Amino acid sequence: VRVDFNVPLDKNGRVADDTRIIEALPTINYLAEHSAKVILLSHLGRPKGHIDEKYRMDPVGQKLSELLGREVTKVDDCVGDVPREAIGRMQGGDVILLENVRFHPEEEKNGEKFSRQLAELADIYVNDAFGTAHRAHASTAGVSEFLPAVAGFLMEKELDILGRLLVHPERPFVAIMGGAKVKDKIAVVSNLLDKVDTVILGGGMSNTFLQAQGYDVG
Ligand code: 3PG
Repeated sequence: VRVDFNVPLDKNGRVADDTRIIEALPTINYLAEHSAKVILLSHLGRPKGHIDEKYRMDPVGQKLSELLGREVTKVDDCVGDVPREAIGRMQGGDVILLENVRFHPEEEKNGEKFSRQLAELADIYVNDAFGTAHRAHASTAGVSEFLPAVAGFLMEKELDILGRLLVHPERPFVAIMGGAKVKDKIAVVSNLLDKVDTVILGGGMSNTFLQAQGYDVG
């Protein structure tokens, strides 16, 4: 299951906001209740293809254990013998969390060999990482070529809501966008301009627009 557990961490390295983990629980619980061996995979931060201790998935695994009320085994790699052996020890209904997929440079390059290595670990690929769905990476796109692939409940919910909003919106239709990173969102804003009555920008990204308008953003 590709999830988006790219969550903010506090200065002690603990999960500062568990919204994304909570949103993935319906898919995880459904699979576990149906006796699947649930293998979770995510990125965290931008470690740029190297192991970076501050981006290990351990705090995320701890938070997930708390939320599920059961043990979640954290595995120190996401391809090869380490996950294979851990998966070999799983019972139906168990949940494990693999290490940060972006520790491997092939992830962001959508490498075919790496995608196949990911696919070798499982029987079915579930994509529930809506927050990362705009990335054509090995764990979001490549792996789906080598396994039967389905959407998770979070992906379904987000697409359903967005789809309805974009096709039959109630008016006035106001879109509020925030976040730190503007680069990926420019295309979204351009696309929305034809459909909405008003766009409201907030968060860090609004500084970019203010600066473009000549304001001193300090
Ligand atoms: C996000 O938080 O925007 C997603 O997890 C994608 O992360 P990225 O911008 O580092 O690819």
